[in-house]
Amino acid sequence: MTDLVADARSLVPPGKGLLAADESVHTATTRLASYGIPSTAETRRLFRNLFLETLGVEEYLSGVILFEETLGQEGEDRELFPRSLAERGIAPGIKADLGTEPFPSNEEELITNGLIGLPERLQEYKKQGARFTKWRAVIRIDGDRLPTAAAIHENAKRLASYAKEVQMAGMVPILEPEVLLDGKHSRSRSRAVIEETMGTLFSTLEEQAVDRAGVILKTAMALSGNESGRKDTPEEVAEDTVAALMESVPRQIAGVVFLSGGQNPDEATANLAAITKRAEQVKAPWPMTFSYARALQEEALAAWGGKEENVEKARAVFLERLHKVAEAVRY
Ligand code: 13P
Repeated sequence: MTDLVADARSLVPPGKGLLAADESVHTATTRLASYGIPSTAETRRLFRNLFLETLGVEEYLSGVILFEETLGQEGEDRELFPRSLAERGIAPGIKADLGTEPFPSNEEELITNGLIGLPERLQEYKKQGARFTKWRAVIRIDGDRLPTAAAIHENAKRLASYAKEVQMAGMVPILEPEVLLDGKHSRSRSRAVIEETMGTLFSTLEEQAVDRAGVILKTAMALSGNESGRKDTPEEVAEDTVAALMESVPRQIAGVVFLSGGQNPDEATANLAAITKRAEQVKAPWPMTFSYARALQEEALAAWGGKEENVEKARAVFLERLHKVAEAVRY
């Protein structure tokens, strides 16, 4: 096994997962604003510090995905965050894309930027302690109209070019083509779009000679759209999610991790538990775990509210959620 394959597998060990703490400045500002917290470099540092310096997170986290700004900030232990995480056996990762913009061929869809200058940025991130990276593409469903094959294809090409660069730089790529929950679509449409997206992605990776054994896939679950008026049961979500992945994802990849995508924390936890159970039943070939941002952080952010006196309580809330989510992958 090459070092990169071993590194990729070390991110998905039994019973542990990833915290996505890689909200861009723009997204972090929106998140903080919804709890009445202003966004400055210092409040964003305190936001990261709340989660990353919680005692005991190493029991549940194999890695944390960081945003560029956080790589150079210090936590309350006066250490740079990447170093402090690594000392606790948690791999520091970095969001390597630069966000989305409208797809020129169809402006209702998005493509992800960040390939220009990527090799130089990767060297810099590596020097700052990053061991793995993430690139997020966004796939929007609207009835049978969207996504277009062209948008899926362009995003897949960029994901493959990113993965190639990251492997050349000696780091692990996490590929995140996120099929959005937004919309009126059915769960079966979500399943079909996940299958189509992954099918295109993995054939593009093959064309670009990316080492599949060294990549991790980050995916949404197959869910009815959030304006469909339907709530799926965990068993329904599990059946369609696992079936979509079994149909379209090569067995060689190092692991599959899930984003929460706007599900509430209890839904994201129950659906993950059902997925890991289903994966076991059908003998899915990959380790599966969580890589949540909102579902792990939102209760603790509400408890914190940006106030020093609430830090302890918020950390207890965070640990409680982490414990539940980790239980969901300890099937
Ligand atoms: P959510 O879990 O909030 O969907 O975020 C995961 C993520 O990394 C999105 O890019």
